[in-house]
Amino acid sequence: MSWQDRWEWWQRGVIYQIYPRSFQDSNGDGCGDLRGIIKRLDYLAWLGVEAVWISPFYPSPMKDFGYDISDYKDVHPLFGKMADFDELLAEAHRRNLKVILDLVPNHTSDQHPWFLESASSTSNPKRNWYIWSDPAPDGGPPNNWISEFAGSAWEWHEGTQQYYYHAFLKEQPDLNWRHPEVRAAFYQTMRFWLDKGVDGFRVDVMWHMIKDEHLRNNPHNPDYDPERDSPYHEVIPVYSADQPEVHNVVREMRLVVDEYKNRLLIGEIYLPIEKLVTYYGNEESEAHLPFNFQLIGAPWDADHIRSVVDTYEASLRQHDWPNWVLGNHDKPRLASRIGREQAGVAAMLLLTLRGTPTLYYGDEIGMVDGNIPQEQVKDPRELNCPGRGLGRDPARTPMQWDNGPSAHFTEGVPWLPVNSDYREHNVGDQQRDEHSLLMLYHRLIELRRRESALAVGTYEPLESSANLLAYLRHDHKASFLVVLNLTNEPQSFKPRSRPGTGQVVISTHRESELQEVKDRIDLRPNEGIVVRLASPPERPASSAEGP
Ligand code: GLC
Repeated sequence: MSWQDRWEWWQRGVIYQIYPRSFQDSNGDGCGDLRGIIKRLDYLAWLGVEAVWISPFYPSPMKDFGYDISDYKDVHPLFGKMADFDELLAEAHRRNLKVILDLVPNHTSDQHPWFLESASSTSNPKRNWYIWSDPAPDGGPPNNWISEFAGSAWEWHEGTQQYYYHAFLKEQPDLNWRHPEVRAAFYQTMRFWLDKGVDGFRVDVMWHMIKDEHLRNNPHNPDYDPERDSPYHEVIPVYSADQPEVHNVVREMRLVVDEYKNRLLIGEIYLPIEKLVTYYGNEESEAHLPFNFQLIGAPWDADHIRSVVDTYEASLRQHDWPNWVLGNHDKPRLASRIGREQAGVAAMLLLTLRGTPTLYYGDEIGMVDGNIPQEQVKDPRELNCPGRGLGRDPARTPMQWDNGPSAHFTEGVPWLPVNSDYREHNVGDQQRDEHSLLMLYHRLIELRRRESALAVGTYEPLESSANLLAYLRHDHKASFLVVLNLTNEPQSFKPRSRPGTGQVVISTHRESELQEVKDRIDLRPNEGIVVRLASPPERPASSAEGP
């Protein structure tokens, strides 16, 4: 049995996130679609990723660009038909690519038939499928909970004279996950897709799913700065999210996924490490991968990153499998955040840390935040709290495929402007350039697929000077030393205890490759290297015998 067979696909491989509106248009309407994704599957297979996670493509009024769903079991006409999805799944599987769907259980669209029924009268059988409450004694909202998109999280419903709760837009009412019928309906939805053969789910805002039964007020946040922070942070969400009972729901979801073979449950969870890891559950009973966003907004500073990695690693129990995310559709682009010159170092970090990497479309070619003129803003968060840098459109601009018109994303008018730098930064040109960021991603992924030490081996931090990150990845077959220069100045690395001699197998600067390294390693500005060690490190390596 090969090592690949001893580990789960979601432990070994890389997950690639597709924001379907922006990936590839196939019919000239300016919006990406499922047939567009099919067209690009060969590219994804070439890149070497294991799985694609596709953000929502279900019927939706599109108030939150598909995260407001009005039918969980169909495809929005903008993205195609169910037959297109079936073909996409089959074509992906034919190329050994897994497909992960976005599951949005916390809230529906206000146009979902469930909500329409629930809102039709206080005695409707689905009334308690959502969270309804009488006004506070002063007639105002029942409590001080704030929507993630600003303003009270409660919306007055004239027709039935009660408020309903929405953690996001008022057009996204929250389901009441304490209600057994809601759970049953949702598990049935999950089975619908699992029966089709999808390989797993990324569960949207998993930590939001259950709220305090008594709807108690959240405490005020003394550190809130209205100039800088999202209005959501005015109170601390002690009662509106991360409630103990949410773990029962996640356990039940896991049981549904486990009715099938080799399927994956990911949770979107923005919480500090000590709370995040509770979503693994005991004895592998909850999410396989609670998304780890600790580096997605962190300062790009070696000391900080080292301490985050060490704290995270130390918090994991034996069966908890790590994962890392550096970019997604809700956050500024990685290359904008850390600078394009560091993008190669970030690629190396993401692909050599222990744990499953998730790669956001376009980060592999160093796409930066798009410039969205005020009149073209689409994102409701920017529209609701303008000017605070919270808008998400800049990270959602069309994929830059080549240097042709509209970067060959569409033959029509793109729904968001294609970034003006596409002539210099695009897939086509970078595939032809051995020194490009894309080729670095491709080669790192290839190495990771070949070398069990890098994919599933142990992680051991090494002491280094302030501006460097250095660590070993090893198993019984091989040992690798990774050294990353997080500055734009030359740095040298001198290990305290000799990690052994070796040869550079991949560098962000190809001129360094094949070099032999001994006691001292000189790194160029913004350089990262992976060294295959000839002699094993002094400490005995543990093996990759299986999870
Ligand atoms: C998640 C999604 C985000 C969406 C929100 C509400 O955070 O990633 O895009 O707006 O949930 O569904």
